[in-house]
Amino acid sequence: MPPAKMSKLSVIVTLSLVALVYSQKASVKQSESAKAELEAFINEAKQNVNQRYRLTYHIAAPVGWINDPNGFSYYKGNYHLFYQYYPYDSVWGPMHWGHVTSEDLVNWTQQPTALLPEDEQCFSGSAVVDGETMVLIYTGHKITDEDPFFNQTQYLAFSDNGVDFYKYSGNPVIPLAPNGSPEFRDPKAWRHGDSWYVILGSTTEDDRGRVLLYKSNNLIDWEFLSVVAESNGELGYMWECPDFFELGGKHILLMSPQGVEPQGDRYHNLHQTGYIVGHFDYDTATFTPETDFQEIDFGHDFYAAQTTEVNGRRLLVGWFGMWENEFPEATDGWAGAMTMFRELDLNSHKRIVMKPVDEVLSLRDQLIINGEFEGNQTADFDKSAEILIEGDLDEDIDILLEGRDGGGKAWIRWDKVAGKVSVTKEGGDIRQVEWAHRISKRWRLFLDTSSLELFCGEGEVVFSSRVYPLGGWRLTNLSAQVLRISGYSLKRGVPE
Ligand SMILES: *[C@@H]1O[C@H](CO)[C@@H](O)[C@H](O)[C@H]1NC(C)=O
Ligand SMILES: *[C@@H]1O[C@H](CO)[C@@H](O)[C@H](O)[C@H]1NC(C)=O
Ligand SMILES: *[C@@H]1O[C@H](CO)[C@@H](O)[C@H](O)[C@H]1NC(C)=O
Ligand SMILES: *[C@@H]1O[C@H](CO)[C@@H](O)[C@H](O)[C@H]1NC(C)=O
Repeated sequence: MPPAKMSKLSVIVTLSLVALVYSQKASVKQSESAKAELEAFINEAKQNVNQRYRLTYHIAAPVGWINDPNGFSYYKGNYHLFYQYYPYDSVWGPMHWGHVTSEDLVNWTQQPTALLPEDEQCFSGSAVVDGETMVLIYTGHKITDEDPFFNQTQYLAFSDNGVDFYKYSGNPVIPLAPNGSPEFRDPKAWRHGDSWYVILGSTTEDDRGRVLLYKSNNLIDWEFLSVVAESNGELGYMWECPDFFELGGKHILLMSPQGVEPQGDRYHNLHQTGYIVGHFDYDTATFTPETDFQEIDFGHDFYAAQTTEVNGRRLLVGWFGMWENEFPEATDGWAGAMTMFRELDLNSHKRIVMKPVDEVLSLRDQLIINGEFEGNQTADFDKSAEILIEGDLDEDIDILLEGRDGGGKAWIRWDKVAGKVSVTKEGGDIRQVEWAHRISKRWRLFLDTSSLELFCGEGEVVFSSRVYPLGGWRLTNLSAQVLRISGYSLKRGVPE
């Protein structure tokens, strides 16, 4: 019913139904003792974490394993980020939702674990704000005795303070994919007009990835609308963590396809995260693609990105990791992290450009180096730094990054003939991509204790890779040209 024609009575009925659903009567409080036990465990276990690779301004779990970002949202004056979390070991295990909050996207506070697995494991999902209530929608994953041994349905949880979460007693709210596929997960919800929408990752019967769209008036009763897009066979067997949003007058379908084969420089990680630009018609629920699938980040360790919009800015965060990559910090009691927060724009070539949010400028501390960077010159940094690099792009650029006390290394390079930027880890593990449509020639490199993020120009090309140097960073000019470099040390943004 269009809102203009809605009677006062029906408005009141709708509001009171929603209020009833959100009341604790219809919600199930998670066991206080289980939560208290878990927080006590985390506080104890984090004392034993080896600090050598701990990140200083990237979100990571206090102890244990994390993967996908979840529930990225803004509620009552705070940014909220949740993450797939297994506190009891630094490997994947039954999924919880860990939780951090921040007023400014740079200074983060650890919150108690938001969702604990009960009958269901709490797989990935998103958060929306409905009036005064924060609503999480996530995949309840259950192990069964049947082939394929699991069942995935969509669950709700509520909070009125952004800290304590209650699971909806009527879960699941979406029990089955339209084609019955057991692969049915990662709901991302948003509001458009007077309705709620949710997009979900799934598969066709012949194992091609696809995304499904549903609509609801109350977040409880969902109607299947359409298949927004599906793989033609070359784009993987499962599309995880879909997101769908407007940017620069277009609609962006962001997702993480699994099972895409490497092609030239593309798709060298086990799984990919990227996007298709197109047009979406809400009346017919049809998405008309205008581009092919493009990777959104070209580094070694990036997956399952999620966005949210706050004050007109489209913000993105990804898992700073990849399935089956090594996590050297796992022997230290933790594994995995989140990338820096990025702001998105669409350029005139229908490519997403991605910049660190402006708030990261507030992390800058001391100016360590500023000027011409000559032959064999090295610059030493502590565990974290922001480094601005400019060279002549008619000549090659070759920069070595290594530990002042050894450990991991990486090389960042510009190849003027190929027109490509590359990031190479030890053993020649290279990721490279053409860098075209350059407005700015500057590189902005962010180093943390065990990570690097390279933003080229206006963010046309971005690499996120984990690297594990020891004793702080050393940068060496291996190029045949003088580079202009300035570098800052950075303040801490996350709890120790
Ligand atoms: C970060 O936030 C905490 C608590 O909100 C505050 O005590 C601290 O001073 C802040 N740190 C910075 C660097 O802003
Ligand atoms: C998963 O469980 C729900 C009930 O919670 C059921 O309706 C649905 O059919 C099951 N899905 C599959 C794929 O069997
Ligand atoms: C750089 O170091 C090498 C060997 O350490 C030396 O042969 C070379 O002359 C140096 N180059 C410059 C420009 O200082
Ligand atoms: C670093 O920059 C200078 C330019 O002063 C260049 O001549 C030199 O060869 C570069 N690299 C090395 C390894 O010295």
